[in-house]
Amino acid sequence: MAEPVRREFIRQSDMVNYENSYYVRQRFWLDFEAVRAKVAEAAGAAPDEIALTRGATEALQLLIGGYNKLKSGDAVLYADLDYDSMQYAMNALKARRGVDVVKFDVPEPATRQAVLGAYARAFDANPKTRLLLLTHVSNRTGLVMPIAEIVRMAKVKGIDTVVDAAHSWGQLDFKVGELEADFVGFNLHKWIGAPLGVGFLYIRKDRLADIDRDMGDEEFPETDIRSRVHTGTVNFAAVLTVPAAIALHQEIGAAAKQARLRYLRDYWVSRVRAFRDIEILTPDEVGLYSAITSFRLAGKTSKSDNDAVVAKLRDGYKVLTVRRAGVAKGQCIRVTPALYTEEADLDRLVEALAVVRRPSEEV
Ligand SMILES: Cc1ncc(COP(=O)(O)O)c(C=O)c1O
Repeated sequence: MAEPVRREFIRQSDMVNYENSYYVRQRFWLDFEAVRAKVAEAAGAAPDEIALTRGATEALQLLIGGYNKLKSGDAVLYADLDYDSMQYAMNALKARRGVDVVKFDVPEPATRQAVLGAYARAFDANPKTRLLLLTHVSNRTGLVMPIAEIVRMAKVKGIDTVVDAAHSWGQLDFKVGELEADFVGFNLHKWIGAPLGVGFLYIRKDRLADIDRDMGDEEFPETDIRSRVHTGTVNFAAVLTVPAAIALHQEIGAAAKQARLRYLRDYWVSRVRAFRDIEILTPDEVGLYSAITSFRLAGKTSKSDNDAVVAKLRDGYKVLTVRRAGVAKGQCIRVTPALYTEEADLDRLVEALAVVRRPSEEV
């Protein structure tokens, strides 16, 4: 959390602690509704198209698990770059709905054309597909998917898409309508900077009936999106702090945040592209990247290879990176600058990579 948000979180925690059950019973649910309206407005949705969740995982599990149009013998589709938990939720549809689960690989290196081609081929090869999982910003490589184009292609084939926007809103500047998707799961505790434990789901108004109530919720009518999320007791102070996080996000400006993050990413990537023995997995094509980008030393695809590089960067240069598995062509290392990252931090990364890439070098 940024400082103003952290302070608001402490203030709200103190308030909840002091006013206790009285607050929760008298006022919390009114305040909760105001937060929901605020989030909807900021995301560009109608309030009745949004329901708050404890994060993107809860939102996406409810969308994937609750999607009720699948019949036995249908297929569902996802790719190697999708997030593990959402892959699990798609895999679980086999037992739950009797569908075939198909996984395919996003091309590497990725280009817009290659990505669109891969999805088009996957649709053609699996004509029984009725549901697609699509990740806006991959947590593995940072690849930004051309969501609207893929969603449109899917619709033509009669395929619905659940979009995983866990990492995108706040990192990228967009409104939910631009995705053209009917079902989207979001986080508020990543790039919007809210306290941990808040996210939301979006269901386009005329698609509500296609998602089941959450565990048979009886608190809200069938026609109310709030019946699609039944969390139980939530972290009151975290929810109450969301408006402060959105206010700061808007004060900085979504476009300015996006531009700064892309600048920081380009800063190190443009220098490291000169190192022939380092593969940058995330393309430079406009619209296909944002803050996150992954690399690997050429041919070094194992867990131990990549763990060793992460350890050298961390212990030798105080640069924290993250090993990522699950990419079809092999493991890699993710670099994620934040808004507070400075050029000097990235210079240290580039200097480190210049040394680390040479196998004979003792670091
Ligand atoms: C692409 C993607 N989807 C879903 C999630 C799940 O988000 P959360 O753990 O905040 O629920 C993450 C978290 O890193 C993610 O990167």
